[in-house]
Amino acid sequence: MKLSIIGTGYVGLTTGTCFSEVGHEVVCVDNNREKVEALLRGEIPIYEPELEELVTKNVNAGRLRFTTSIREGVENSDIIFIAVPTPPQPDGSVDLSFIEKVSHEIALCLTPELGYRIIVDKSTVPVCTGSKVMQTIKRYAPAGVDFDIVSNPEFLREGCAVQDLLNPDRIVIGADSQRAMDMMKRVYQMFHAPIVETDLSSAELIKHAANSFLALKISYINAVSAICERSGGDVELVARGIGMDKRISPHFLAAGLGYGGSCFPKDVKAFIHISDDLGVPFTLLKEVERINQTQLDRFMNRLREKLWILRDKRIAVWGLAFKENTDDVRESVAVNLCRRLCEEKAIVSAFDPKANETAARVLGDAPVTICDDMYECARGAEVLIIATEWKEFANADLVKLKELMHLPIIFDGRNLLHPANAVHAGFEYHSIGRAS
Ligand code: UGA
Repeated sequence: MKLSIIGTGYVGLTTGTCFSEVGHEVVCVDNNREKVEALLRGEIPIYEPELEELVTKNVNAGRLRFTTSIREGVENSDIIFIAVPTPPQPDGSVDLSFIEKVSHEIALCLTPELGYRIIVDKSTVPVCTGSKVMQTIKRYAPAGVDFDIVSNPEFLREGCAVQDLLNPDRIVIGADSQRAMDMMKRVYQMFHAPIVETDLSSAELIKHAANSFLALKISYINAVSAICERSGGDVELVARGIGMDKRISPHFLAAGLGYGGSCFPKDVKAFIHISDDLGVPFTLLKEVERINQTQLDRFMNRLREKLWILRDKRIAVWGLAFKENTDDVRESVAVNLCRRLCEEKAIVSAFDPKANETAARVLGDAPVTICDDMYECARGAEVLIIATEWKEFANADLVKLKELMHLPIIFDGRNLLHPANAVHAGFEYHSIGRAS
């Protein structure tokens, strides 16, 4: 099928690429000329495993194109996906101005002669956005254009986006027209995944409800981790014990420094705001947010308990990205941790396998020494903090590490190491959700 994707951010670029990988003819549109020119040269603006190879392969096969022209996309495709940012506003509500602008631009390109078009919302948007897009297109398009609006939320995770896209648990399609639903099902027939057919509003709600539920699971286990630390339990064992119950599942029960990234913090806030607006406040989610925020506070308190004064202490931080396998530092707890340590005048060095550059940009004036090597980062340190769940850190050479460090103390904010291994290597080891 002929598809276009408006917006080549994380979701747009990876989705467009995977659509072309399964055989569709895809035009990716972005108004950022430099970005499009870089993509045409085969330069990928983000680090995402497998993505670069897939872009190159499908561009060479003639199935994937990049352009700055929305008109080119609208005229040459049956289905137009909107995948533009929906950033948070200061009050927690969602800024829909990019969605409105693109809807308006699409409307101006539609004509009755072009024939039927489907406009699909892929971005994460508040419930009822679809009907606003519909009104906008009706207002600005010439009379007689034939189109439908669909909501088709995306559930990919950064760091494993390609695999999530090619092997999804489910596809959610929300449409108020059978014709649109049938065409959308054809888009996804190559993915061999169950399709959940809904109305427009339910599909929009599924996205916010799913992300908020996952954030809730993380906050739940983080709250349990606080109880474990006080009572002598081990949160890893508790998570294993509850996760083997199929009704709970073992996923998203890893206690740590809290969730970050460009999705959970924003989407939980947005869902709270949406529920408030609808007059049915979702207060449970306020607690999810509170637990997430206090997780880093509690970690800092434990650091102070063990090290007493942080001023002038040499602290190494492994991890800057908000999670493993990405260079994304948006709402990264690891970056917030570095800032907090600097505020307390600690001497901070940090290393991330992929996010050194992106982190240096957001850290700005904060006096963090960014290192190219994880062991050099730890050299001379009085304590090492593990802040992101990269495999490299889990597989660290602890003997070498101990020789390099000034004092053998590890604070593992992601429970990556086996406590017995760390202790056996001679470390004083502190982790999340275990008494120490
Ligand atoms: C999340 C969702 O998982 C995706 O399904 C969704 O499509 C995406 O948001 C989105 O809305 O676009 P993402 O933010 O890329 O994906 O990454 P996750 O793997 O969900 O991790 C989010 C945060 O939770 C990270 O900071 C991670 O460290 C933390 N986390 C995750 C935990 O602390 N514990 C866990 O058990 C899992």
